Amino acid sequence: MDPLLNFQGQVAIITGAADGFGRLLADALAYRGCKLVLADINEELLAAAVKDLREAGGDVVSMAADVSDESAHKSLVELALESYGKLDIAVNNAGIAHIPGALHTLDAETIDAQFNVNLKGVFLGMKYQIPAMLSNGKGHVLNVSSMAGLGGAPKAAPYSAVKHGVVGLTKTAAVEYGRKNIQVNAICPFFSPTSLLDKGGFTTEESRAQLVMGSPMKRMADPQEVVSAMILMLSPANSFMSGQSVAIDGAMSAW
Ligand SMILES: NC(=O)c1ccc[n+]([C@@H]2O[C@H](COP(=O)([O-])OP(=O)(O)OC[C@H]3O[C@@H](n4cnc5c(N)ncnc54)[C@H](O)[C@@H]3O)[C@@H](O)[C@H]2O)c1
Repeated sequence: MDPLLNFQGQVAIITGAADGFGRLLADALAYRGCKLVLADINEELLAAAVKDLREAGGDVVSMAADVSDESAHKSLVELALESYGKLDIAVNNAGIAHIPGALHTLDAETIDAQFNVNLKGVFLGMKYQIPAMLSNGKGHVLNVSSMAGLGGAPKAAPYSAVKHGVVGLTKTAAVEYGRKNIQVNAICPFFSPTSLLDKGGFTTEESRAQLVMGSPMKRMADPQEVVSAMILMLSPANSFMSGQSVAIDGAMSAW
């Protein structure tokens, strides 16, 4: 296999692995020889993902987990170490949307939920993943932020605030652990038609068309395009990229 795409013998944790980007990334990594430790709050979808991956020959273990729960991350890293003896890659991908609304119309529960899952979930993930990578002598953390983590996102203030937080966590961890051979990067995708868009209230063709109207390519990202960029970022050959928050946005941020 091309060394750029060869993940043979590596061990990866993926959170939010039952659906969307996480599910597709599990396929893409397993296909390239990576052993997987998958987590999701949706037990039913997670079990289906594990079944499919195993049937395709993947080496996979899983745990139902809520990323806002600290003990879940501890258990998840323990599962990786017990099952495969090390941790090379961690993708902190689990995330939630909220119903759009101008800042003054949103309630405190919305920002609490965004903070707990989309930001605290990433922080707690790294808190337990990094010590395992320190023992391993190397590692790569990929955090999933968003275009809303690089610029303002009208009607999504809580989401935008916490996704900016993910960028800050990523930069800081990259600087703190650079000398320990641990890379920490973030990916910042533009809108992509996963179930997150439905949960964010974008259920109609019309509402989705509005999302892309102002973008140079006039379309959303295919989820597979986002996952291909994740694979390129995580490639073992991509060993000097760290502290970066990479927009996968069809030139939206180039305006
Ligand atoms: N789809 C987009 O347009 C888009 C754009 C930019 C960034 N993102 C980000 O990409 C990431 C993945 O989103 P997606 O589009 O694949 O969404 P998705 O809804 O298809 O998948 C998200 C997965 O995370 C899981 N999850 C949710 N809350 C969890 C929790 N507390 N603990 C564990 N698992 C949990 C869900 O069950 C689901 O399987 C998220 O962080 C999201 O914010 C998505």
